[in-house]
Amino acid sequence: MTQNTLKSLSSFEDGTGGKTFSRLDESNDLIFYGTDRFVRHLDDLALETVVKVVGTLVVEDDPAILDLMAGWDSHIPETLRPLKVVGLGLNENELKGNKIFSDYVIHDLNRFPRLPFPDNTFDVVLNTVSVDYMTKPVHVFKDVGRVLKPGGLFLVIFSNRMFPEKAVEIWRSSNEEERILLVEDFFKEAGHFEKTTLFISKGKPRPEHDKYACRGIPSDPVYALYAEKKGGDPRRKARPSITLTYGSRLTEEELEERKKRIKATLMCPHCGEKLKKWAVPDNPFEVTWDNEFMYICFNDHCPYYVRGWDHMSKEGNRGVSYRLMYNPEKDVCMPIPVPSPRALRESIVE
Ligand SMILES: C[S@@+](CC[C@H](N)C(=O)[O-])C[C@H]1O[C@@H](n2cnc3c(N)ncnc32)[C@H](O)[C@@H]1O
Repeated sequence: MTQNTLKSLSSFEDGTGGKTFSRLDESNDLIFYGTDRFVRHLDDLALETVVKVVGTLVVEDDPAILDLMAGWDSHIPETLRPLKVVGLGLNENELKGNKIFSDYVIHDLNRFPRLPFPDNTFDVVLNTVSVDYMTKPVHVFKDVGRVLKPGGLFLVIFSNRMFPEKAVEIWRSSNEEERILLVEDFFKEAGHFEKTTLFISKGKPRPEHDKYACRGIPSDPVYALYAEKKGGDPRRKARPSITLTYGSRLTEEELEERKKRIKATLMCPHCGEKLKKWAVPDNPFEVTWDNEFMYICFNDHCPYYVRGWDHMSKEGNRGVSYRLMYNPEKDVCMPIPVPSPRALRESIVE
């Protein structure tokens, strides 16, 4: 987003920017969230990823954690031993049912973006699948900067599911890539934070027991955008980058061995699935190859393809992964970029 957009975001929060932060349901949030929702807001695989992200990034030994916009589950792994976890949200039964909380507070951030805690209280602030409901996000992000200790972590996790009636207009009208930029802007405009880091887990197949699995809908994407509060001790423990483990990792030797045999097997070296014959499109505007056919791995469970979303985003190419393509003329494997699980399938010839 441009500097001009940045300047205007927080002023839009005060109602002068038209509908940017308006909602379809403008009634008191306590009414909507007064209904208990002991539900899972993401599928099981995506929730496992959320737990893994929290477990990887929280490196403090006995952290004081604030779960902002909390429900009955904070997705904190059992391996973490927090000194305290405070929940802030709107539904008393859900907060009472959250076993990890040492304390909780009912507090409407949209009416009172100032958090009811002293400066420099927490080592970590978590905000999971809820940033889309903030009508004054920059005010809230600024105040998170106030209650975090220097060097403390603000971890914002989001996906693509929402209660549309309570999500702000700019979130509803943005696509997934634009939402990442938007949350980055909240961090930037709040001003208290070091540079943000992004982790993406996307395109994994939905767990088989999930009720939507039969429709071919992939697992819910997980976007984790995080930054530390400025002024941290330079000697503090570094937060490791999150590595997406998916499928068993082959050694370089095993992979090379499989690649050597690919002409005979026509099997993907990464997942062992049969490659599909694919007609090279006759399109003057795209890169084309001399031969008429290639072989591509279209297995949505293939670890090469699943890990590709995060790998490409770290290389600066968001919203893209790649599949393994085998060129039979040259007897070489190469990646072919794909923007979605459906891409390229129309040219499968078998
Ligand atoms: C989709 S749920 C996510 C709950 C929890 N963070 C999780 O990961 O399961 C959205 C949460 O945001 C909280 N919330 C929504 N609007 C809020 C507001 N104005 N102030 C404080 N909390 C709010 C609700 O209480 C609800 O628990």
